[in-house]
Amino acid sequence: MKIAVLPGDGIGTEIMAEAVKVLKALDLTFEMEEALVGGAAYEAHGHPLPDSTLNLAKAADAVLFGAVGDWKYDKLDRPLRPEQAILGLRKHLGLFANFRPAICYEQLVGASSLKPELIAGLDILIIRELTGDIYFGQPRGRRTAVDGHFPGAEEAFDTMRYSRPEIERIAHVAFQAARKRNKKVTSVDKANVLETFQFWKDVVTEVHAQYPDVELDHMYVDNAAMQLVKAPKKFDVVVTGNMFGDILSDEAAMLTGSIGMLPSASLDKHNKGLYEPSHGSAPDIAGKGIANPLATILSAAMMLRFSLQQPEAADRIESAVRSVLAAGYRTGDIWSEGMKQVGTREMGDAVVAALITKTITKS
Ligand code: IPM
Ligand code: MG
Repeated sequence: MKIAVLPGDGIGTEIMAEAVKVLKALDLTFEMEEALVGGAAYEAHGHPLPDSTLNLAKAADAVLFGAVGDWKYDKLDRPLRPEQAILGLRKHLGLFANFRPAICYEQLVGASSLKPELIAGLDILIIRELTGDIYFGQPRGRRTAVDGHFPGAEEAFDTMRYSRPEIERIAHVAFQAARKRNKKVTSVDKANVLETFQFWKDVVTEVHAQYPDVELDHMYVDNAAMQLVKAPKKFDVVVTGNMFGDILSDEAAMLTGSIGMLPSASLDKHNKGLYEPSHGSAPDIAGKGIANPLATILSAAMMLRFSLQQPEAADRIESAVRSVLAAGYRTGDIWSEGMKQVGTREMGDAVVAALITKTITKS
């Protein structure tokens, strides 16, 4: 099992060190190879996604990714900005299916800005299409307007588009995921305004005919944004396009009060995947040793389950995380009165200790 380890920028290196430590504590043999990505790769190689990094990612069975980005790169030409590394990996590896679970851990109910009763037991799964939509649609660019409200003025434009096969495959992913959960899919669109999303809605409805055991409903994205804070537990699986999914998944993550806890998986058609925490590179706290490594550690667990066929190892990591939370360990982002505040490294150590204790108890 070969894992490409791409820590990236900001807190990426700190949180990745903890996830690697946890993987090494399992009684499994991995080949792990590390490479630069994002701003770090730009500094060293002049490009955020050098060929060497892309080739490593292609050759590996799975990619474990930290985070990329820093404000200091905002002035670079777009193709050189750190974010292009993650967009390039998604595109070149064909990672079209993005799983972003939003789970409220029992011990962290108080960390949410929503009332505890709204989010206690929350377990929803956002499935975001990741290689299409306005993110990748061509043409895009700047030009002089020939029509519109200000002909002759400078303008910028992007193209929102989805083809039938792109919608069909993500719809299948969503219905199949729902079958393993509460059998309910909400497809989020903007069919009342956008041609692309009327088509999305029509195609999802057609695919649904193959899944009579799964309930499907449709919701406009503005309403979905509202329902997510009003009654989030009414959702099970949410499936949507790239841009709406970007926005709604941040909203869903924050419902749990702790974006520092949420892993994500981006899969290709063979279930090869890239695994990353849902949070970003947080340059404001980088290097301070205070970032929460749990989202990355839980991403490693998702990797074991989805791409490396090691469900038991995944369960072990997840239960170690739960026991560490139950024992009161908290990084600053999830800390509350009476809890043990720890740094990034201590949190990783605590997870490793919990893993080892469990192993001993079992044997
Ligand atoms: C995400 C991020 C990325 C996105 C950025 C960093 C390009 O916000 O993974 O949600 O917009 O997809
Ligand atoms: Mg985002």
